[in-house]
Amino acid sequence: MGTPTDNPAQVPYLDLPTQMRPIRKEIDAVIAHALDNCSFCLGPDVVQFEKDFARYCGAAHCVGFNSGTSALHVAMKLLDVGPGDEVITTPCTFVATSWAISYVNAKPVYVDIDDATFNLDPKEVERAITPRTKAVLPVHLYGHPVDLDPLLKICRKHKLPLVEDAAQAHGAKYKGKVVGTFGEMSCFSFYPGKNLGAYGEGGALVTNNAAFAARARALREHGSTQRYYHDEVGFNYRMEGIQGAVLGVKLKHLDAWTHERQRVAKRYHELLADTPLQLPREADYAESAWHLYVVRHPRRDDLKAHLESNKIGCALHYPLPLHLQKCYAALGYKPGDFPVAEKAARECLSLPIYPEMTEAQIQRVASVIKDFFRKA
Ligand SMILES: Cc1ncc(COP(=O)(O)O)c(C=O)c1O
Repeated sequence: MGTPTDNPAQVPYLDLPTQMRPIRKEIDAVIAHALDNCSFCLGPDVVQFEKDFARYCGAAHCVGFNSGTSALHVAMKLLDVGPGDEVITTPCTFVATSWAISYVNAKPVYVDIDDATFNLDPKEVERAITPRTKAVLPVHLYGHPVDLDPLLKICRKHKLPLVEDAAQAHGAKYKGKVVGTFGEMSCFSFYPGKNLGAYGEGGALVTNNAAFAARARALREHGSTQRYYHDEVGFNYRMEGIQGAVLGVKLKHLDAWTHERQRVAKRYHELLADTPLQLPREADYAESAWHLYVVRHPRRDDLKAHLESNKIGCALHYPLPLHLQKCYAALGYKPGDFPVAEKAARECLSLPIYPEMTEAQIQRVASVIKDFFRKA
């Protein structure tokens, strides 16, 4: 059966069927095994995956969740963030980063981003600290690590815990070390389109702190360590057994897939270097996991329409920063508060990037972009 990848004239934004094909037999076998064992909620495959992913991150503990959002929510609970508290975070992310703060009735305090990396600007964080600040929640956006050393320095100085939102950054490296253990804890998403994606929802909380891990295990399972005894109000945030089995298979391929993403990014850099686009660049401290390849241009909307009319998938991450979202109107932010984030939102355009992208597809994307600027 043909797939979009067989036809370089069409470049889908994401191509999960092509990724699934070579691992399908192994996936079928582990799913069959999970079904035979009736291990649907948590179970041995989740336990094994937690061990493997903790090892992958160089962490002592990994707790599997039913989504990255749930893991972030529990991270806020573990730090006892609550009503009246403030958490400093970025307006340039998927909204779930902020949901975690809102779910515990605390206040997201946004600061502007660094123009080069789209990540929270450490210099802005220190200015936003107040006596009510309870934690700092940066995101390794698009797979590019935030500049952790200056952030950690500020956090240590003010005795604030740092939680990494690593939902988009499985295997990304900061100064040679995989992200996930720089802060008190980190949260990952295994949503299907992520670099490590489940075949359904999934997430994880990673930490070196045994007490946090134990409480996270209890919180994800109705606040109980012993069935029908509930030490605190908890949640049903368990990872499904089948997702643990799928993730266990896919984790073995993650480094090879990241390598392929790096190949695609490198080719885009080369082929698009002489266009007016602002291209994403790795900071000298970073090895990006290249979850997304986000270019920038003031005529972003026209370029997007041009790509789509040429059957090239593209997307916007993210078109409206969180401080301007309707759901956060009560926080009182207004346009102009975070000019760097707002400009990035107006200009950003995510090009297709996935490990299976062929050279012909990459060249097709680049040539359609060049065609746009020639006509302009
Ligand atoms: C930066 C970021 N944080 C949190 C999440 C939430 O993860 P999930 O979709 O698994 O709940 C996502 C994923 O969509 C994300 O991209």
